[in-house]
Amino acid sequence: MKRRQLFELEDQPWLPGAIRNGITDFLQFAATRAGLYRAILPRLERCIETAGVARILDLCAGAGGPWSDLAPRLAPVREGRLRICLSDRYPNRAAWARALAAGGGRIELHPDPVDAMAVPEGLDGLRTLFSAFHHFAPAEARAILADAVRAGQGILIVESTQRHPLVLLYMCLTPLLVLLATPLMRPLSLARLFWTYVVPAIPLAVCFDGWVSTLRTYSPEELLALAEGLDEDLGEGRYRWEAGIAPFGPLPVGLTYLIGCPEPMGAGH
Ligand SMILES: C[S@@+](CC[C@H](N)C(=O)[O-])C[C@H]1O[C@@H](n2cnc3c(N)ncnc32)[C@H](O)[C@@H]1O
Repeated sequence: MKRRQLFELEDQPWLPGAIRNGITDFLQFAATRAGLYRAILPRLERCIETAGVARILDLCAGAGGPWSDLAPRLAPVREGRLRICLSDRYPNRAAWARALAAGGGRIELHPDPVDAMAVPEGLDGLRTLFSAFHHFAPAEARAILADAVRAGQGILIVESTQRHPLVLLYMCLTPLLVLLATPLMRPLSLARLFWTYVVPAIPLAVCFDGWVSTLRTYSPEELLALAEGLDEDLGEGRYRWEAGIAPFGPLPVGLTYLIGCPEPMGAGH
């Protein structure tokens, strides 16, 4: 299946805020309730220990991503050695306020917009992007990796999608899942109910964007090709790059990931 850039409704400036937030809120709800990203935990923990960081800088954090599920499962967080900072080019302040309140002191927010391709100097930490990298065309995607390398920071890209027919099939079920999940989601606004049950724009948009996200997802080989030569071009020492699929239990599909970690001086590839 060839990668296609296409477009997602979520990226369109004309999309009403209630529908956009309806999409990201559902993604966040599904990711945390289903423990969607747990398969990446061992690699994330290894990456934290290798990089020796005290902070994760989550880029493109949307409504807060997977952290309410992942943070308490990370030993460095439980031991008080690691905090998670949410950032986005378009900060969703309402959702972040909820994440902060529920975070038990583990979550911090970067209130100003942060462009993943040009992270402000001094905003250090292991960079993470959950289900956001596929939005970027190859030149932009490479710019995100290059910015991390230029700053000497580790980076972990995770996608809940994969270009696989089974994932496309699953996306057909998402309208039904949105209809079933909405009564359990908080806050339950009138706008969310209207755009879900009266005019089902949120269920259909989740399905449409799900299909497009699947078709846009970079394969592990494409991710490695995007990273190729970045550390040499920039003369910033060496990075160890690793990409693959972390399977969802016994299923033939899983999380697509790319990890780039600076190696300690003197270590070989
Ligand atoms: C799919 S959503 C968020 C996914 C979120 N990480 C999650 O797991 O639910 C993608 C996010 O990328 C943000 N975004 C788009 N372009 C960006 C850029 N250049 N830099 C930083 N964030 C960006 C959008 O505002 C949006 O919140």
